[in-house]
Amino acid sequence: MTAWYAGLLAGFLLLFGLAVYLGLKHYLDSGLRNSLSQQTRSIAEKLLVDVDHRGEKHVADEASENYSPEINGRFLRITRADSSTLYQSSQPRDGSFDATRVPILRGPVKQEFFRDEFVGGHRLLFHTFPYTTPEGRAFWIEAGAPYHPVAELLDDLLIILAFGTPLIIAGAIAGGYWLMRRALQPVDDITQQAERITSRNLSERLSVAATGDEIERLSIALNRMIGRLDDAFQHINRFSADVSHELRTPLTILRGELESIAQRRLPPEMLEMIGSALEETERLAKIVDHLLTISRLDAGESRTLKIRLDLGQLAISTADQMRLLAEEKSISLVYEVAEGVEVEGDPARLRQVIANLVDNAIKYTAKNGQVKLHVAASGGKGILEIVDNGVGISAEALPNIFERFYRADLARTRYSSGAGLGLSIVKAICTAHDAEIKVFSTEGEGSRFRVELPLASSLSLNESRANSPRAAVSNPAQ
Ligand SMILES: Nc1ncnc2c1ncn2[C@@H]1O[C@H](COP(=O)(O)OP(=O)(O)OP(=O)(O)O)[C@@H](O)[C@H]1O
Ligand SMILES: [Mg+2]
Repeated sequence: MTAWYAGLLAGFLLLFGLAVYLGLKHYLDSGLRNSLSQQTRSIAEKLLVDVDHRGEKHVADEASENYSPEINGRFLRITRADSSTLYQSSQPRDGSFDATRVPILRGPVKQEFFRDEFVGGHRLLFHTFPYTTPEGRAFWIEAGAPYHPVAELLDDLLIILAFGTPLIIAGAIAGGYWLMRRALQPVDDITQQAERITSRNLSERLSVAATGDEIERLSIALNRMIGRLDDAFQHINRFSADVSHELRTPLTILRGELESIAQRRLPPEMLEMIGSALEETERLAKIVDHLLTISRLDAGESRTLKIRLDLGQLAISTADQMRLLAEEKSISLVYEVAEGVEVEGDPARLRQVIANLVDNAIKYTAKNGQVKLHVAASGGKGILEIVDNGVGISAEALPNIFERFYRADLARTRYSSGAGLGLSIVKAICTAHDAEIKVFSTEGEGSRFRVELPLASSLSLNESRANSPRAAVSNPAQ
């Protein structure tokens, strides 16, 4: 933008400079020509007109008195029809040219004309005017003026333009840049503030500077838009929370009734059908629970709860509760947990993260596999890793696994239970804790889920201590 502006300005200034230069050159040129032709004409009409009455001497005297180079720095010569000189001016006082070296002009001269002549290296402009007296005697008058005052003036102008134009351009660029930065600074501020607004902090607004200009109107319009988005998001969240909540009661009643029917004496096929219906009801209840959790998290529920807790202890106690699950598949749970990795957050929610990740690791790992829990501190972050050597996730599925209800094909066919909501919850909890979740996986080799939580403030200094492993428990569950 600045380059464009500078280019345009330079172009315009160059054109302007050229126009001024050419205009002045033309003006001075024609001024010189006019004055020379006026001079020759007036000599003819005032002096030569009387040459027969007053004599040639009188003409020469008058010419030398009124038009000598001492007076106007110009050359003057009056020549008779036979090319003999009646009068020729003497040397100019400033020595700007040598009058004796002006070439003789041979007649006859029929009409007036201008010519350029170089006299001793100096350029002079001559006007020659033929004149015939009322008595019929022919003369021509030559008036010449050195060109150098004009050339000097034009040179001066050129110097002014050559030095002045870049200065003006530099000044205009600096001024324009400063003005533009000043004008665009509020836009920059708005952009930065707008970048910080996500679906989780839609209640925040951009600051509005009361400048009364477009920037103020833009901020107000953006704030209104954010307000409408906020309303829409809240509406959606409330709706899914309400739906999930409303579904819970009928589901509980349904489950209770199915359980009471199952108590009765019924034919085995009926009991089997009721058992299957009960299983589906439970699955439905779990989905509804998960949806309720997600909509609460989306509404920013767990942002407020920040309790200081030991990530390693939390990971071990949560995974320990799931050991039965691992034992069922003869999967060994291995802990590599550093001491004193303290983070701030909601323990129940973080427990949910660990449980969901360990649950997946066990679920998507074949019998006799291994699931490793790794907790450490690094780069000011508390790191929690759950590593398995299970089925892994294909490269196509990997970008989608955190989406709601997404289940990779492999998981769909081999492992029927699960709605595809576990990782959505994990992601939502991580976002609420300003944590990052990353996944590395190779199909057929296993997966590594890595959660990076900000360390509780005073502990980030004690990272080295936190990295010393407290327990490396190998726990083959058999
Ligand atoms: N450790 C893992 N190994 C292989 N695939 C995994 C692993 N964890 C997740 N996945 C894949 O990501 C998908 C989404 O996981 P997510 O936990 O959200 O759903 P789910 O486990 O299928 O169901 P839910 O957790 O709701 O019971 C899974 O269906 C599976 O395909
Ligand atoms: Mg899961």
